[in-house]
Amino acid sequence: MKLRDTLKINEKGRLEIGGVDCTELAAQYGTPLYVMDEAYIRSVCRGYTELLSRKYPNSKVAYASKAFSTLAIYNIVRSEGLGADVVSGCELFTAIRGGMPASDIYFHGNNKSAEELAFAVRENVHAIVIDSLYEIELLNEIAGRQGKKQGVLVRVNPGIDAHTHRFIQTTRPDSKFGFSISDGTAANVIKTIVSKKNLEFTGIHCHIGSQIFELKPFELAVEKMTDFIAALSHNNIKVPELNLGGGYGVTYTSEDKPLAPFEYVDAIVNKLNECIASKNIAAPKLVLEPGRSIVGEAGITLYTVGAIKEIEGIRKYVAVDGGMFENPRVSLYQSKYDAVFANRALDKPCETVTVAGKCCESGDVLIENIELPAAKSGDILAVFTTGAYHYSMASNYNRNPVPPVVLVCNGESDYIVKPQSYEDIVSRDSVPSRLGECK
Ligand code: LLP
Repeated sequence: MKLRDTLKINEKGRLEIGGVDCTELAAQYGTPLYVMDEAYIRSVCRGYTELLSRKYPNSKVAYASKAFSTLAIYNIVRSEGLGADVVSGCELFTAIRGGMPASDIYFHGNNKSAEELAFAVRENVHAIVIDSLYEIELLNEIAGRQGKKQGVLVRVNPGIDAHTHRFIQTTRPDSKFGFSISDGTAANVIKTIVSKKNLEFTGIHCHIGSQIFELKPFELAVEKMTDFIAALSHNNIKVPELNLGGGYGVTYTSEDKPLAPFEYVDAIVNKLNECIASKNIAAPKLVLEPGRSIVGEAGITLYTVGAIKEIEGIRKYVAVDGGMFENPRVSLYQSKYDAVFANRALDKPCETVTVAGKCCESGDVLIENIELPAAKSGDILAVFTTGAYHYSMASNYNRNPVPPVVLVCNGESDYIVKPQSYEDIVSRDSVPSRLGECK
């Protein structure tokens, strides 16, 4: 359990977030419930912006909103001076509705549709990150039709695979993202873009992976990207922006030992300054796109314990009212989580149990083998680090409603995503008349 000022155990021995007792949140809003700590989100944003404004002012932090995209989050990160990275028409729509200036938005995706591109151009987004040859032609035509010259970055593959346990340098071209630098594709693509009337080449982008703990892969990415900038400048192509994506790791369990977010940025900036000097290149604007590190640890999910099933000598299942519909990460990535009973957070763990979800699927387990105090039906289980890629990846599997999201700050709590009712879910269904009446 990684506690902080805004996530602590109060005098009643209960878990508290943003000055609000989690047991009371569960009673007031019901469970399962996503809870987001506003002060924590703001403090991480400030950690990034303060360091950058001191050490590399020509920079922007674009929050990777795929981690958690709602109107309120764009409002918060914008007010902290961040821009946003969006990856779909509706993330773009939400960002703009949430008050994010289009001039601070980067639009990513390996297969954006013509409609999405037209929408982005119409809204005057700062940059569209080109990720296919198909997109170059399509976007050039769309921008031309709208009488605009659209700023574009190019997503490149610098050949660093940080997804492996120990990252490796690889020139493997097997990724659906990015144009390879090493085989010359990226340079050719950029030359093509420069020749297009309605596109303006504004820089290069890479994203080497997610939930990375080490500094080395980021430093290596800076090396490779600045080598590429140097090579482009020999061809008289200027690179005004260098966007290095996100990927900074967070703590899910005590086994995770990430650095503080700003330490990654510090190392990146040091390396970048060193490369600018040694390679004699013009200093680009530096753009970073953290997602998980901004919202991940800000979030917890509250559940109510229901059925408890003990299989003698094998396993004890403690079932909660959530599951893979609100946290698909366990089944997708075998992710590990830490949890406590929020209603008695000081009770000592005394048994090893498996926390199961309520979906009709054996694999719907949220935490396998966690030490907890003896569970009772009605206990409120708080699972930590659920702010990133939880709400944004939730579904209506088994027709379970996606849980609401509550934002807490200084003892106040408010919905930022309202509950979904059965009626909401069914309201988009329709029955062709030839099937006859529904009873
Ligand atoms: N920029 C780009 C272009 C990205 O593709 C991503 C994440 C980010 C920034 C933000 O990375 P972060 O700072 O959040 O690591 N669903 C997975 C994570 C997928 C991340 C995809 N791209 C999960 O739940 O772990």
